[in-house]
Amino acid sequence: MPREIITIQAGQCGNQIGAQFWEQLCLEHGISADGMLENFATSGNDRKDVFFYQADDDHYIPRSILVDLEPRVINGIMESKYGNLYNPENIYLSNDGSGAGNNWASGFSQGERICEDILEMLDREADNSDSLEGFNLLHSIAGGTGSGLGSFLLERLSDRYPKKLLQTYSVFPNNDDSSDVVVQPYNSLLTLKRLAKNADCVMVLDNAALTRIVADRLHIQNPDISHTNQLVSTVLSASTTTLRYPSYMNNDLASMIAPLIPVPKCHFISTAYTPFTSNSSDKAKIVRKTTVLDVMRRLLQTKNKMVSTTPSKASCYISILNIIQGDVEPTEVHKSLLRIRERRIAQFIPWGPASIQVALTKKSPYIHTQHRVSGLMMANHTSIASLFSRTLLQYDRLRKRNAFLDLYRREQMFSDSLEEFDNARETVHDLISEYKACESESYLKPAI
Ligand code: GTP
Repeated sequence: MPREIITIQAGQCGNQIGAQFWEQLCLEHGISADGMLENFATSGNDRKDVFFYQADDDHYIPRSILVDLEPRVINGIMESKYGNLYNPENIYLSNDGSGAGNNWASGFSQGERICEDILEMLDREADNSDSLEGFNLLHSIAGGTGSGLGSFLLERLSDRYPKKLLQTYSVFPNNDDSSDVVVQPYNSLLTLKRLAKNADCVMVLDNAALTRIVADRLHIQNPDISHTNQLVSTVLSASTTTLRYPSYMNNDLASMIAPLIPVPKCHFISTAYTPFTSNSSDKAKIVRKTTVLDVMRRLLQTKNKMVSTTPSKASCYISILNIIQGDVEPTEVHKSLLRIRERRIAQFIPWGPASIQVALTKKSPYIHTQHRVSGLMMANHTSIASLFSRTLLQYDRLRKRNAFLDLYRREQMFSDSLEEFDNARETVHDLISEYKACESESYLKPAI
């Protein structure tokens, strides 16, 4: 029985990374741009029905809802080669079409007004599934729609579907001072509260790290958003391979998440990937030796990580799940794990086992890669809290100056009081403290 997953893509970023994700999935499963199975796609041992369903004429349709408050990005997708792939009934574009103006409060309040239409689409998709496992939200936390409307949907979904898993792929902003959205610390903080309270698992993607990887690892001189999104879609597709090419382990979302998240509050996962390749640059085409040990070692190197955190001396892994793709013998995995443990390359929490799980999975037979083995690391690491601390710091700076608050006061939720900000600040502060506490030996000991 498939354990279906419904994807919600919200806002510009959510829809742009979503579009690239579906293109990648189509390539991997031998599905053409208009949803038909290609003639060569005969191997049949993949599970397309987790992410797609078939229409009456057998063409594949993504289990996906596309939502935006302004039409540009979704119209672009519909006019693209893949425009016919999506179910037109699953597209929500707001009537006034003016977006959320990079304002979380506007996105959230518009959510209150339009949620019935979106929930109807989600309910229809849920009823269309045999055994729905959960929802994936793709969004950015810095703008207005993906963050504000995304937050609203997270609250609603956790209420409406309490037994289903809520996973997000959340793009964190490039936190430098040249950031494109001045109020991003406000938007990020308010969204982080919902990610902390309403999501079961948050895959953190950080634009600062993605931009660095495109420049340093892929050697692309003038990177644009399509290069960063190529990386994001690699992470998205690699993190779902065990669901789409099932073996005896990790073949549903719950069994993947459970060992990664032993402490429910600490559910923010970072990723690393290797080897990165790109046809856009000759330097990035170089093929190296890729044994399982090479791949596992590289996954632990900072330069391959897709978040830019600042680890302290006490920072440690809570857990790791490596998804290794390729033709690999289980004994090779076993030996590599032993070697990594002997060398103590990774530091783990003092109150639990050094848990590096490995899931072996097949590669798509329809895509040629130069590498024998590739790997995605999903890591629960306490240094993720440094990303939240940075957001808090930037928030405090803006808030001290009372900067741009009028934009928020315009919405009913903030018209009488700014308590929501204080509340979100407290939630994020508690989250940072929880990660800090995880680094201590006495974490599980009851306080006397
Ligand atoms: P409004 O524009 O206010 O309606 O909200 P929105 O959710 O559509 O905003 P958007 O998704 O553009 O969020 C802004 C943040 O997302 C900024 O930090 C951008 O750098 C980032 N961003 C926007 N598009 C993309 C994308 O395609 N990929 C990546 N990686 N980041 C993006």
